[in-house]
Amino acid sequence: MIILGIESSCDETAVALIKGKPHAKIAILSETIASQIQIHAPFGGVVPEVASREHLAILPRLTKETLRKANISLEMIDAIAVTAGPGLMGCLLVGVSFARGLGEAANIPVIPVHHMVGHLLAPGIHENLPPFPFITLLVSGGHTMLVRVNGIDDYQIIGQTIDDAAGECFDKTARLLGLPYPGGPSIAKAAHDGDAKAFKLPRPLLQKKNLDFSFSGLKTAVMYALKDQDLSNPQTIANIAASTQSAIVDVLVQKSLRACKQEKIKNLVIAGGVAANHLLRTQLDGNSQNIAIHYPDIQYCTDNATMIAHAALYLKQNDTTDWDVNPRWKFTDNL
Ligand code: KG4
Ligand code: ZN
Repeated sequence: MIILGIESSCDETAVALIKGKPHAKIAILSETIASQIQIHAPFGGVVPEVASREHLAILPRLTKETLRKANISLEMIDAIAVTAGPGLMGCLLVGVSFARGLGEAANIPVIPVHHMVGHLLAPGIHENLPPFPFITLLVSGGHTMLVRVNGIDDYQIIGQTIDDAAGECFDKTARLLGLPYPGGPSIAKAAHDGDAKAFKLPRPLLQKKNLDFSFSGLKTAVMYALKDQDLSNPQTIANIAASTQSAIVDVLVQKSLRACKQEKIKNLVIAGGVAANHLLRTQLDGNSQNIAIHYPDIQYCTDNATMIAHAALYLKQNDTTDWDVNPRWKFTDNL
């Protein structure tokens, strides 16, 4: 089955062509991505109106390029997979309208994909997914949740953030430190030369036995820690970055391992932009609970269209167009 994937829910316009079937290694025929990071960087975050205009301008060209690179014509495609939510309304509408037009022209179905399901299944792009049930830590710019995955479309949220997402905490802290957007990679880079013990930062909700997260207090603690500090000193920035990264990662690691222990599950998947974090990966890999850790290749942690096309392989397909974009699409709901 050949699937064309389209992702435009936030600040990456991405198109991919894959060939495959569920629970088997897929062939990536071609993939293209146009990042809007440079456009939004001066604002310190994504400007929704600007983002949707960019998607509209770029998507047709990117699609043509993806098809050309794979030497595939529209007639050879079996279905189009597109992110239908959650995300920015205008951005989703551009992607879905474009996909529908293309689907109509080629007379093929358009499959709506939940963005976080795309992330969740992304480790299956290059290795087989672990057997069900497994635990997933989904960590991105808008989500931080622990999910018990009993099967495809059988998801149980067993913990989630009560305020900011982990990625959001990276992004907001970076902004406080004057580091470029997106904050996660900037903080990780700055933390390289820093001392993670230099600043004592809280590990929110770690003492609580539940699996929930809270990151807004951590951001506030960083704000207070910065008072009376010389932010023109690169070592101070490095130390704060390292201390913040360590606090976020500690909480994510311990809660994820606790989730595995509670559910008596030995396979943990991490996915979403923050799963690209090196410290998070190494700390989880070094766990002493004998839990096997699975994560996507770095390029499939952050937003991409291959994960959307790949997820569609696992979804029920029908020819209905009786669905709409949903910027607040709940993970456990139907569209
Ligand atoms: O999944 P994603 O690309 O977009 C959303 O669906 O939100 O995740 C983006 C988030 C941003 O908050 C970004 O700062 C964070 O992932 N991120 C990282 C790293 N790379 C991206 N956070 C920590 N370490 C990284 N290396
Ligand atoms: Zn994402």
